[in-house]
Amino acid sequence: MATILDGKILSQKIRDDLKKRLETQKAEGKPTPFLTAMQVGEYLPSTVYIRAKERACAEIGFGFKHYKLPESTTMEDLKAAVTEVNDDPGVHGLLVQSPLPSHLDEIQVQRLVSPLKDVDCFHPENVGLLYIGEPRFQPCTAAAVIEMLLHYGYNPAGKNVAIVGRSILVGRPLAVIMGLKGRGGNATVTLCHSRTRDLPDVIRKADIIIPAIGQAEFIRGDWVKKGAVVVDVGINRLADSTKKRGYRLVGDVAFAEVEPKAEAIAPVPGGVGPMTVAILCRNLMHAAGLDAGF
Ligand code: GUN
Repeated sequence: MATILDGKILSQKIRDDLKKRLETQKAEGKPTPFLTAMQVGEYLPSTVYIRAKERACAEIGFGFKHYKLPESTTMEDLKAAVTEVNDDPGVHGLLVQSPLPSHLDEIQVQRLVSPLKDVDCFHPENVGLLYIGEPRFQPCTAAAVIEMLLHYGYNPAGKNVAIVGRSILVGRPLAVIMGLKGRGGNATVTLCHSRTRDLPDVIRKADIIIPAIGQAEFIRGDWVKKGAVVVDVGINRLADSTKKRGYRLVGDVAFAEVEPKAEAIAPVPGGVGPMTVAILCRNLMHAAGLDAGF
């Protein structure tokens, strides 16, 4: 039986640690970190994600605002709203939830957020700092994967790591962090993608496999070396008439095939997913510290 990398337990520990730190900092008269999550339109999954962020902030004791803008918001309107939050000294972290309505340019919006409040680590300045090995923030999902590996004793240093998927949110920053010197780094990283030749063979050579492509049960059992560590980042809906809601959530890994081969595996759900919000909260604490000098 593989060790289960449990994101629920670890994310709770991170939130508990932040709560304790906040109590100490409040007693020292330091400001309470405050997060603004901006949403344009009514896309339901975004509302659900933002609610999860709000719940985590409330549990820790951070301030939070769900800043809602209508679907019809123009770039000008959004720019004005982002500037208002950038300029508000009471707000330490700002994220603009994606996806945005198609008439708005996400890349341009990411550049509007103050780099010092950019808890998602999407701003090019913060991406550049990450790339040169002097990170101000780390992107939440990439940092979540690394925290899980380190917490469960699977240090990537010296290991062969296969990351599957080169998205700007997960695959690319993970490849950078794991390839650099420093915490969670010093690995030999292969960044696989849709044009990778003989993908199963590449994956079979990996000590650590990190699928992040968003294709249900894509990684099969016979692609995985005995004793590999697998951190599944994918979250996919698979039709399932036995469920009340008509679907079930599965990862990018065929869990039933891969689990018996793996030394350890982060499942979906209950693996990386719950960790990302905890890391966002950690980034918010860091942003408040940057602002107030703690
Ligand atoms: N949409 C899906 N994931 C994310 C995230 O991590 N940050 C933002 N801003 N939007 C998202």
